[in-house]
Amino acid sequence: RTYDIAVIAGDGIGKEVMPEGVRVLEAAARRHGFTLRQKWHDFAHCDYYARHGRMMPENWKEEIGRPDAIFFGAVGWPAIVPDHVSLWGSLLQFRREYDQYVNLRPVRLMEGVPCPLAGRKPGDIDFWVVRENTEGEYSAIGGRMFEGTDRELVMQETVMTRKGVDRILKFAFDLARTRPRRLVTSATKSNGIAITMPYWDERVEAMAASYPEVSWNKFHIDILTANFVLKPHIFDVVVGSNLFGDILSDLGPACAGTIGIAPSGNINPEREHPSLFEPVHGSAPDIAGQNVANPIGQIWSAAMMLDHLGEKGAAAEIVAAIEAVLKEPSLRTRDLGGSADTASCGKAIAALLS
Ligand code: NAI
Ligand code: MG
Repeated sequence: RTYDIAVIAGDGIGKEVMPEGVRVLEAAARRHGFTLRQKWHDFAHCDYYARHGRMMPENWKEEIGRPDAIFFGAVGWPAIVPDHVSLWGSLLQFRREYDQYVNLRPVRLMEGVPCPLAGRKPGDIDFWVVRENTEGEYSAIGGRMFEGTDRELVMQETVMTRKGVDRILKFAFDLARTRPRRLVTSATKSNGIAITMPYWDERVEAMAASYPEVSWNKFHIDILTANFVLKPHIFDVVVGSNLFGDILSDLGPACAGTIGIAPSGNINPEREHPSLFEPVHGSAPDIAGQNVANPIGQIWSAAMMLDHLGEKGAAAEIVAAIEAVLKEPSLRTRDLGGSADTASCGKAIAALLS
């Protein structure tokens, strides 16, 4: 098996954690007998913008070609480029052009990571957040009227399509089917948002009918966020619209500890286009260049990428190696109270795969 991977390190600590992600990928490939053909791209970072006045070359799609996946670090350097420019000029281009309509994040409390929720132990928190990534509340339909008068008015429409809603729900139910508890929780607000959210609920019910082996429930978004904090053990797969999913996919990993270890996938499940895997964190200008960044978010993203490529065994082993290293205080990075630097943490994880 050979996989073509586009590698984009980006800015700041993206450049420090990416080599560790690749180190672990290579160790997993040797051990499991597959080959990764890497193509590193020197764009989608702010130095590129400083030189060319844009984040990526005009023909970036040709440059990237047809890789099996994109492995991404972090983008953004606000001292050179405003954040909305760097983000829209890079990551959001990939999400849109490659129809990566699933944003997927694991929420898992691991030993060695301090949990901000009192009394929770590793094993108590283990679920996935599935966010719709292309439509919903983040639409361009709307506008301003009567500006500057006392009748001033702004509005922005939510757009849900049957195709868009059904495909994200299908992903969530398919994922739940692979889990021991086989439970889907839907985020809704059909009591207050009385047109789009009842539609969302209807589609959940229709989808659930074709998954008799998966159970499901729904919560309004307000109590759902409270339950993330109060009862995180009740969740298995949580699915939400673009806005609700955005909130839950930051809240979930925050409930399970440091931002330095959280991974994410921007996925096109049909594999018509490449999917992109990246840590949740950004370029962390405050610690960049010091070799203290936690590489685990990048490494866990590598595991998600291998899982997506079908290398399930290798993916599970990387997650197990992360868990083993986190148990060892001397191998933890500074954000977890340790003194290991970025490379020694990455090497320790890679060593467990050799
Ligand atoms: P950030 O995630 O870069 O940093 C937030 C805080 O967490 C900082 O104190 C940082 O030191 C710490 N941190 C983050 N990752 C860490 C790691 N691996 N190990 C240890 N500590 C870590 O978010 P911030 O500061 O809001 O944004 C900085 C830049 O990153 C901005 O340009 C922003 O637009 C960009 N950004 C990019 C993202 C992406 O590429 N997907 C996501 C979030 C922000
Ligand atoms: Mg967000």
